[in-house]
Amino acid sequence: MFPLHIRGLRFAPVGRVVLDNLDLVLSGEGISVILGPNGAGKSLLLRLLAGLIPADSGQLLWGEAAQPDGRLAMVFQQPMLLRMSVFTNVEFALRPQPMGAADRRARTDEVLERVGLAHRAKDSARLLSGGERQRLALARAWAMRPRLLLLDEPTASLDPSATEAVETIVREIRTEGAKVLMTTHNLGQATRLADDIIFLAEGRVQEHETAQRFFARPQSSAARAFLQGELPWRITFDR
Ligand SMILES: Nc1ncnc2c1ncn2[C@@H]1O[C@H](COP(=O)(O)OP(=O)(O)O)[C@@H](O)[C@H]1O
Ligand SMILES: [Mg+2]
Repeated sequence: MFPLHIRGLRFAPVGRVVLDNLDLVLSGEGISVILGPNGAGKSLLLRLLAGLIPADSGQLLWGEAAQPDGRLAMVFQQPMLLRMSVFTNVEFALRPQPMGAADRRARTDEVLERVGLAHRAKDSARLLSGGERQRLALARAWAMRPRLLLLDEPTASLDPSATEAVETIVREIRTEGAKVLMTTHNLGQATRLADDIIFLAEGRVQEHETAQRFFARPQSSAARAFLQGELPWRITFDR
């Protein structure tokens, strides 16, 4: 599935161009964070990679293959949970997997334990707080044992302690060998989590650098302007 080569990706709904000839190579390790102004196409890029919407043109090459091998999971900014128990939200998602019922239940217990929701297993998912909902969504994705995990602003509406809990889970998923590709508006989070930064603006990848290099010395004027404009208030308000 890796490296993933994205070549000439274009997304141009009627009358305008959102992504224009986007090129990017993603390795199969670490946490890559996509940064960029509002409307740059960060969420869109994740949806295109997840196969949720088609591009107008361009090419994706997953290792040697035209399609990802299925081990791909995505968590949205507002997780879509079933109106069922916490346990069933994970267990139900595993039903299409080639595994028996006992294994499915064991896997569900395991991931709920790991995200700190084992004690809420029987509760309705509707009763969860925002941070717990996001942890449940991560557990559901983790249960699929993804090779690539796509996260769209996973902490956008969470307070600092819920954010920290989500960041810990994301690190653990990375440590287990999944590639993580995520967006965030929280530059503090980007510095805490990112191995590399993909800076998206004006329809293209303006910069793809190690996080250390990006924050120390952004190369493009667009990235410098973004960091100067965003830093004072984005970190504080996380929005
Ligand atoms: N499915 C879609 N069809 C048409 N336009 C879309 C679609 N999804 C997103 N867009 C547009 O693409 C632009 C980028 O959106 P988005 O990816 O949500 O930005 P970001 O996540 O970087 O803030 C926006 O102008 C949005 O309206
Ligand atoms: Mg977005």
